Amino acid sequence: MPSVTVSAPGKLFLLGEHAVVYNGTCLVTAVDSRLWMTLTAEEATHNPTLTIIAPDVGLTNWSCLLKESFFRPAYQGPSAFIESCLAVFHRRYPFHANLTIETRSDFGANLGLGSSSATVAATLYGLSALFHADLSPDQLFTLGVEAIQNVQKLGSGADLAAAIYGGTLYYLNHFPRQITPLAVDSLPLLVVYSGEKAGTVSYVRKVAELEESWPNVISAVIETMFTIVDSGRECLLARDWVGLGQLMNIQHGLLHALGVDTPSLSEIVFAARNAGALGAKLSGAGGGDCAIVLVDDTHRSAVIDALANKKIVNVQANAAGVRLEKA
Ligand code: PMV
Repeated sequence: MPSVTVSAPGKLFLLGEHAVVYNGTCLVTAVDSRLWMTLTAEEATHNPTLTIIAPDVGLTNWSCLLKESFFRPAYQGPSAFIESCLAVFHRRYPFHANLTIETRSDFGANLGLGSSSATVAATLYGLSALFHADLSPDQLFTLGVEAIQNVQKLGSGADLAAAIYGGTLYYLNHFPRQITPLAVDSLPLLVVYSGEKAGTVSYVRKVAELEESWPNVISAVIETMFTIVDSGRECLLARDWVGLGQLMNIQHGLLHALGVDTPSLSEIVFAARNAGALGAKLSGAGGGDCAIVLVDDTHRSAVIDALANKKIVNVQANAAGVRLEKA
């Protein structure tokens, strides 16, 4: 009974979220909270089955025929990303086996740390290892983008790039997509949960509606975000934390202008800045999930005290990408 265990990291957007959807750029980093996945193949008779055990998303012993997963008209619910990956993988690399997929996550689906992209990276990498397809990171990425599109119909793919390649990336969402690893050793970040769960898809649509109403205004905001990302890249590489913090503050202001900020996220941002943080912003689509705070050692404990009523999420940036844990 061949079996492999793989893991993939979560992610945080440092700069450029939303702008990256508009053929833009962003800075994204992988975090050391990981999604763990064990994939087991068993010899099958004529109708192979799929079983998913993913208690973090409420699937205790979910199963169906694999061919149902391959041909769903729409991929929905907690099994959607795994099933969609199976369909795109099987189309290129047909296999005939009963599959059991078990997942466990260090971070839970509610924090917005990229459980979907980590699931996609882990499923495709796990299938590649299990069935000896030997997919390169670029091939994994191409299949992963297709799998995500089949579920969400939108998305820049930046979160998937972080889950596959790991580290801290400059990501260009423009054909051909460019994924550039940045030589960053550490990032003095604090990650703080807003207490609210956000829906990425609805917030991307919300910005698209605003863009339809005010194309000139919103395109100027998006263009400015592109400049912020390019400047942020220079600051990151030069370890200019003061500059990076200022750019994070400006990016937060522009995200607020796009209507994706919330009172809870703003509360974190202002409390952190008032306690001496170099910069603070929401991270990701907005509407909830986490804020990130850039803070030097001198002010770290004051910032943590100022956020005593919030949940600090204990993660480090710049983590390793998807990898094999056990063959
Ligand atoms: O909400 P998250 O953490 O999945 O981030 C979404 C980031 C967006 O730029 C708004 C969308 C995307 O696909 O890049």
